[in-house]
Amino acid sequence: MVERAQIQPDDIKRLSSLDDAGIRGGIHSRRTYLMALKDGSLWIWKQTGDEERDEIFVYHLAQKMFRGIVPEVQPVYVPKLGWGSAMRKVAGIPAGRVDGLHGYFHGNEEMQADLIAMLVLDYLTGNPDRHSNNWFLMHNDRLAAIDNGWAGEDLAMTLSAVFEPADLAGLVRDESLWPKMLKMMLALINDLTGRGDEARALAEEIDINQKDAVAMVRLWEPKLQRLARFVQ
Ligand SMILES: Nc1ncnc2c1ncn2[C@@H]1O[C@H](COP(=O)(O)OP(=O)(O)O)[C@@H](O)[C@H]1O
Ligand SMILES: [Mg+2]
Repeated sequence: MVERAQIQPDDIKRLSSLDDAGIRGGIHSRRTYLMALKDGSLWIWKQTGDEERDEIFVYHLAQKMFRGIVPEVQPVYVPKLGWGSAMRKVAGIPAGRVDGLHGYFHGNEEMQADLIAMLVLDYLTGNPDRHSNNWFLMHNDRLAAIDNGWAGEDLAMTLSAVFEPADLAGLVRDESLWPKMLKMMLALINDLTGRGDEARALAEEIDINQKDAVAMVRLWEPKLQRLARFVQ
């Protein structure tokens, strides 16, 4: 795994509450802050007690296999508060607040591929929390999958739950886009097939509760097979 410069307590300039920062949405954990670093970067720092592992693992998994659709996440120690996970803040809008969401996907294959990657990532990690505040359209026309703290919560998700974000974007009903997107999904399934061990090895490298992270991707191959049968 490529190690990045780790954020140190000394790098932190200020923490503000999300309300003060004007950030809405989500059922915030009691300890969620906007964290500004001295280098000017902004992060969302959360302390939940057990979701840090999921946030970190899903970030690394997305870097490796899912088009990097999860913004950078690091474990960060905040003096007096303790350990939490920090996700780099992205410039964009939650999908649920985008007018004409459907229109953004037309002619934008990068965004279509991002959506497909997000659906498959959530299915394979068992994350049933991809509601419209938990994915963003970024200003560079790409998607960001934020808030992955619920990964592992539902290891037997129904396929209709998996396709919910596509439904929100009006894509399930759009016959002009769907064939190409299904093709993209098959290509991704092909790429991921046989890589369950790689995913589990990545989980083993996570510093906290790696056993739970490994369990999260235990059903990798059968799930890919099920998905392939569904879209073929
Ligand atoms: N990486 C990010 N970039 C921009 N905004 C974010 C990011 N992460 C979180 N937010 C904002 O903060 C809110 C709460 O964060 P989230 O991780 O969804 O926690 P929760 O839903 O558990 O409160 C989100 O709904 C979103 O508006
Ligand atoms: Mg949320």
